[in-house]
Amino acid sequence: MDHRAALHAILRRAHSGELTAALAYRGHWLSLRREDEIAEIRRIEAEEWHHRRRLRVMVLELGSGPDLYLESRMALLGLVILIGCNMVGWFIPMYFAGRLESQNDREYEEAAAHAEALGLGELHGELKAFAQLERDHEAYFLRKVAGHPALPFWKRWFHWGPP
Ligand SMILES: [Fe+2]
Ligand SMILES: [Fe+2]
Repeated sequence: MDHRAALHAILRRAHSGELTAALAYRGHWLSLRREDEIAEIRRIEAEEWHHRRRLRVMVLELGSGPDLYLESRMALLGLVILIGCNMVGWFIPMYFAGRLESQNDREYEEAAAHAEALGLGELHGELKAFAQLERDHEAYFLRKVAGHPALPFWKRWFHWGPP
């Protein structure tokens, strides 16, 4: 298995994915009214920008730059979500943020495993921390949607949510 190529591919994908996430969270907190929720989603947005900055450095260190085609597609998707968040009420952005976060940690765990196989200890540690932070993000949204009357409907179709 070519760990370097696999790691490189995941990091480039994640770098663009974090752009979508950060833009989506910008739209998300702009749609909110409660001060505490605005502050919480702004913090998550800042954490995704931080991931993106670090991923950019990692990709450059592995010898390439961001995938510009993917960057433009993911930017567009982020902008669509940014606008969309302001049209669909409170629950749907909270639910789908959590559902997306539930998949993000796997990507970083996979990247961390490749880094470990390559003997890149520091990178491994940082990617493990990224995975943990994505799990913390998911846990936040699980708490937010728990007990909401719309939850059973969405959970049935999209298979994510608190027990
Ligand atoms: Fe992230
Ligand atoms: Fe996240």
